[in-house]
Amino acid sequence: MALVEDDEEEEMGKKLERLVFAVNGERYELPEVDPSTTLLEFLRTRTPYKGAKLGCGEGGCGACVVLLSRYDPITEKVTEFSASSCLTLLCSINLHSVTTTEGLGNSKDGFHPIHQRVSGFHASQCGFCTPGMCMSLFSALVSADKTDRPEPPDGFSKLTVSEAVKAISGNVCRCTGYRPIVDTCKSFAADVDLEDLGLNSFWKKGDKNANVSRLPYYSSGGICTFPEFLKSEIKSISDVPDDAGLTATGGGYWYRPDSVEDLYKLLNSEAFSESSVKMVVGNTSTGVYKDQDLYDKYVDLRGIPELSVVKRDSEGIKIGAAVTISRAIEVFKEENECTLHSNGKLVFCKLAEHMNKVASPFVRNTASLGGNLIMAQRIQFPSDIATILLAASATVCIQTASQRLSLTLEEFLERPPCDYKTLLLSVYIPCCTDSIAKTGTKLLFETYRAAPRPLGNAVAYLNSAFLAQTSLDKASGGLVLDHLCLAFGAYGTQHAIRARKVEDLLVGKPLTSSVLLEAMRLLRELIVVKEGTPHPAYRFSLAVAFLFDFLRPLVKVLAEPGKTINIDALSAPNEEYPYGSRNGHANFPTNETPKHADLDLSDMILSSRQVVDLSEDYHPIGEPTQKAGAEIQASGEAVYVDDIPSPNNCLYGAFIYSTQPLAHILGIKFSSSLASQKTVTVVSANDIPKGGKNIGSSFIFGSEPLFAESLTEFAGQPLGLVIAETQRYANMAAKQAIVDYGTENLEPPILSVEDAVKRCSYFDVPSSFSPKQIGDFSKGMAEADQTIISAEVKLGSQYYFYMETQTALAVPDEDNCIVVYSSTQCPELTQSIIANCLCIPFHNVRVITRRVGGAFGGKGFKSQFVATACALAAYKLRRPVRMYLDRKTDMIMAGGRHPMKVKYSVGFKLNGKITALHVDILLNAGISADCSPMIPQAIVRALKKYDWGALSFDIKVCKTNLPSKSAMRAPGDVQGSFIAEAIIEHVASTLCIDANSIRKRNLHTFESLVLFYGDSAEGSGYTLPSIFDNLAFSPSYEQRLEVIQRFNTSNRWKKRGISCVPITYGVSLVQSPGKVSVLNDGSVVVEVGGIEIGQGLWTKVKQMVAFALGQLWDDGSEKLLERIRVIQADTLSLTQGGITGGSTTSESSCEAVRLSCSILVDRLRTLKDRLQEQEGFVSWDSLVSQAYLESVNLAASAYWIPDPTSKSYLNYGAAVSEVEIDLLTGATAILRADLTYDCGQSLNPAVDLGQIEGSFVQGIGFFMYEEYLANSDGLVVTDGTWTYKVPTVDTIPKQFNVELLNSGYHQKRVLSSKASGEPPILLAASVHCAIREAIRAARVDSLSCGGSDNSSLTFQMDVPATMPVIKELCGLDNVEKYLEGLSAHQSKEP
Ligand SMILES: Cc1cc2nc3c(=O)[nH]c(=O)nc-3n(C[C@H](O)[C@H](O)[C@H](O)COP(=O)(O)OP(=O)(O)OC[C@H]3O[C@@H](n4cnc5c(N)ncnc54)[C@H](O)[C@@H]3O)c2cc1C
Ligand code: FES
Ligand code: FES
Repeated sequence: MALVEDDEEEEMGKKLERLVFAVNGERYELPEVDPSTTLLEFLRTRTPYKGAKLGCGEGGCGACVVLLSRYDPITEKVTEFSASSCLTLLCSINLHSVTTTEGLGNSKDGFHPIHQRVSGFHASQCGFCTPGMCMSLFSALVSADKTDRPEPPDGFSKLTVSEAVKAISGNVCRCTGYRPIVDTCKSFAADVDLEDLGLNSFWKKGDKNANVSRLPYYSSGGICTFPEFLKSEIKSISDVPDDAGLTATGGGYWYRPDSVEDLYKLLNSEAFSESSVKMVVGNTSTGVYKDQDLYDKYVDLRGIPELSVVKRDSEGIKIGAAVTISRAIEVFKEENECTLHSNGKLVFCKLAEHMNKVASPFVRNTASLGGNLIMAQRIQFPSDIATILLAASATVCIQTASQRLSLTLEEFLERPPCDYKTLLLSVYIPCCTDSIAKTGTKLLFETYRAAPRPLGNAVAYLNSAFLAQTSLDKASGGLVLDHLCLAFGAYGTQHAIRARKVEDLLVGKPLTSSVLLEAMRLLRELIVVKEGTPHPAYRFSLAVAFLFDFLRPLVKVLAEPGKTINIDALSAPNEEYPYGSRNGHANFPTNETPKHADLDLSDMILSSRQVVDLSEDYHPIGEPTQKAGAEIQASGEAVYVDDIPSPNNCLYGAFIYSTQPLAHILGIKFSSSLASQKTVTVVSANDIPKGGKNIGSSFIFGSEPLFAESLTEFAGQPLGLVIAETQRYANMAAKQAIVDYGTENLEPPILSVEDAVKRCSYFDVPSSFSPKQIGDFSKGMAEADQTIISAEVKLGSQYYFYMETQTALAVPDEDNCIVVYSSTQCPELTQSIIANCLCIPFHNVRVITRRVGGAFGGKGFKSQFVATACALAAYKLRRPVRMYLDRKTDMIMAGGRHPMKVKYSVGFKLNGKITALHVDILLNAGISADCSPMIPQAIVRALKKYDWGALSFDIKVCKTNLPSKSAMRAPGDVQGSFIAEAIIEHVASTLCIDANSIRKRNLHTFESLVLFYGDSAEGSGYTLPSIFDNLAFSPSYEQRLEVIQRFNTSNRWKKRGISCVPITYGVSLVQSPGKVSVLNDGSVVVEVGGIEIGQGLWTKVKQMVAFALGQLWDDGSEKLLERIRVIQADTLSLTQGGITGGSTTSESSCEAVRLSCSILVDRLRTLKDRLQEQEGFVSWDSLVSQAYLESVNLAASAYWIPDPTSKSYLNYGAAVSEVEIDLLTGATAILRADLTYDCGQSLNPAVDLGQIEGSFVQGIGFFMYEEYLANSDGLVVTDGTWTYKVPTVDTIPKQFNVELLNSGYHQKRVLSSKASGEPPILLAASVHCAIREAIRAARVDSLSCGGSDNSSLTFQMDVPATMPVIKELCGLDNVEKYLEGLSAHQSKEP
């Protein structure tokens, strides 16, 4: 293939024929590369380094973070920065060096202290996020260590604790709950108190010698991030200044013009058209707006020096459009430090502060200022930067095809969307303000954004920035605004706007509450939310709230007690507003505040405490040993399905899915596009071999087709599989499919539970799965003093957000066999489905699963589609086929948790004792049964945690034209437990009794527990009442309650709430196989039915084997642990593996290997005794050697079947959560959470602790953040990291305490242990309940202002309680109402 077209080469005057860069010190030279290749794709497919993972491809999760380094041959300086390799185009890293986590260390040459500490602090579970976490931390360490801060003590870095936590602010971990990752990061910080760090394997709890020498040693500069050879090469390229030039590449062209003139020569040449060329700087916009087709020409704007300029003059700063956001922040901060007028300092400081909340560090490091503004101008991107620069009176310089223009930002934004020939050259930000500042006036500048995550990495519901010049009005003694600029954006508007009418209204008038009210009313006319934008009323209320927040310190009557209005203080750059709610999140006032709540969220001080009771009864069971494989997970060496190198000839698949809920498929064709040309073939139901079934998943209640045939039954249903030569081509090509639908003679689809009821569309629940009613409901109601009838509450769905999306690799094998590597929780089921689909015997199908990058139930049945589709394609094409779903397709097809609508009627005595409860539940199950008929049982099981007197229910499992819902962590239980709390709170509020007293009154006695739970209620160990009492009725709870009440009385716009929630969670042990083989060198290999999905199963299994074989090991079992390896599941090696799920797989697998070990011990015991007699001491190695010589069978397998009389048991726990809500924005901060969880005798407290914390934080996501929404056709629309927000480090409890209760010996459980995987997610309902308490406090205030009647204190709050929901419950018009009240009051005053 020609490198460049000759005429273009001439035109450009020079060319760079190759791409040269280094990865982990290794040189790569590429003469040809498709310019649309991302760095991540290259790393993962063309190098041995698989550490960087694909989690989203959107810059939204951090799994792909690498360190990029640049070398300046003139200054000889290396600049390092983190970057998301999924967005970085490979061609843009010419002459750069890339460091991945493998470059820090590895199992062969030694791990890096980051890897070792990740492992030692138990900070990796499934491990899929871990390499990205390591690289974000490493990048922060490198940056901090380059500062001129004082040298840190030996073993530490120059990083501060706050920076250490912020280092991972853009990285998502779905497993750990972040706390142990935070501890890992903090352990490097010079200002850390090591004793404050959580459970780790470097020192024991309470150890006074918790010092740095115990930690794997860190010293800065240990890693060479830029190899010498590349420096020399750069120096030697004398005729090419830096890395500029033209790179010609395979399959397309990469241009890097070095002047504006050159750029326009290119753009004006005939070869260029808008549809085929893409101008790029950081290419991060593809994280937000995915490319719809492939481009064959890229123009890299970074080679144009004018676009990288940073120039200061006395009037302001000019910043080139290609300057990155991170660099701009540095420039603003530098300005702040130099001798600017205080006004300029204020503005630049606030701009920097706000821009630090745009995206995440690894996006900001490559994203340009200009790219952001062009997105805002051209495609209505909800930009923060446009809004804040608008308020700062910025101007821009643009070049169009015909002229160069200097425009105000407002003029620029208001122009018609600029064409691809318009170049943004620079932005100019004036130090303003000095020119308008007069003596006796002060400048105020503030920016705001309300977004789900305080530290950013979430688009704002609305943002704003306000600039005001104020002076004292001598006549009134108040302040008057001389100049005002009010900018609002991101609310579903074409672009950021200035509220000029409001500005005009406010300028020149003394500020009073009625003037403010008038301004707010006027604002309503100006903030017009585009149709179709979610939460329009909420967004408007934010505009009002922010303006109010900005202006209220200027209005005497609005200042709260103790706060003086000081014009000087208001303009000091670092001064917080007295009651500020900037960024939508609380900045805590200091008065009346308990210590833990003095936290400034932006400082990110997180603290934690873990109480674990170590038990040595079954050593090394009970030890908090490190997770098996944690270090290789951190170093990127752990192999997940997509890390398996592609076999020769491998093809890649991507689903075409339906976008209609119920329609005939009349035909599928492809658009004529570059991407369509990449299609090799399409596999569909027609390719299923004769005799094979069209089956994509199956469970006891039925199966679901792999592909729709002539009729699609839900949006998201697979219609076919596009096959291409790379995954990206397959994904792109699948997007080009145009499906012709028809709805003739079809009934309308059923898209809601209400529709399902109308059409009686239900799944049967077999009687063995039907929960049983308790007592006589009518009688119970008759005994009640009071009743609540038909109250309603709704719970939404939740997406798994496993970091590794669904993936499989199918390789055809000899004799009609197939090997399928699948990331699944159910290899055995997958095997049977593939065999049924291909019509081959089961033994022809080998399904192999080593580890899974997060599952949470979602890799149970839904993984089977992907494995089966790959297998079918591979079978048809006789070539290996693999598939790694992009995040969007995964989200569209996943189904997720069951949403439900609940109605309840409850009767109770005046003392709060509940006498009867009836619940009607409409469960949305989607199109196929999946596991849905089991959900009613789970709901009721968790609901039964209280003694309801009589309990009856009617639960309908509705069949709808939606993707089938599936099991997700604690399916049914988490909703059941929440429903119970909603009812308790309703009763409490009706009776005006505090909810904890109602809870206590209705907790089971042991007798009622037996009545409700039967055999699962074990004779001893009903620990819930004492757990609950210790948390909810302790003196400290009382004290906190008092402090909260005082806080609420003295704060108008922030309220706190606290709540304690108990849980009961029933689990069942299941049969499971295990196999233990001792090899000739004494090493041990173990196979189990359970899959390692991050829950620590392998770790516990290893401990169990060490414990069980330890009887033959006289040196102590510690070393034996190191010699045990648990290997991948293989359906032809260990059969009857079953399903990994239900929280008890670790226990069952442990028990199975214990049985296997017992067989081995029996076989070896006599030999050992004999040898011992002969030689005294018998080492393990000599015992094994002798056994081999004597032909003892050293492999044993067992199939453990739990005793039917004791296979079910109950788990208990409780949590207290304390929250603070912001009444202006609806934002919530979880100030503190205290969890107590009964783990029995924990098999591994570190693993269990990790499960508890991770589960709780996933629950926070469910109860507060995660909205899994679909359009009117049922097609999921929250289909990426941009719209679906899982908790990140800035949303976890600021103080996170967990106590693992050891309830001691229990004969019938596996070594007295209990489950920990799912139950603790139920505890997160405490956050929801605490929020409700806080809202109630807000409503009490409204009551006292005569706002509403008493009934407003009783309300329901659906799940999730997102910011809009909370604000709505606090009153979307709470500011206006408040101002109305004040104005009315004032007008009455004489
Ligand atoms: C995960 C994530 C989170 C984000 N969060 C936020 C947020 O909270 N707030 C916010 O404001 N932004 C946010 N962004 C947007 C981000 O700021 C922009 O993606 C980024 O600034 C674009 O810069 P770039 O250099 O990567 O542009 P590119 O992607 O390279 O280009 C973007 C577009 O602009 C064009 N272009 C670029 N430079 C010029 C120029 N000088 N002249 C003419 N055309 C040009 C390109 O042709 C392209 O069409 C987020 C982005 C991501 C990926
Ligand atoms: S994969 Fe790159 S940020 Fe998620
Ligand atoms: S360990 Fe972080 S996503 Fe699994």
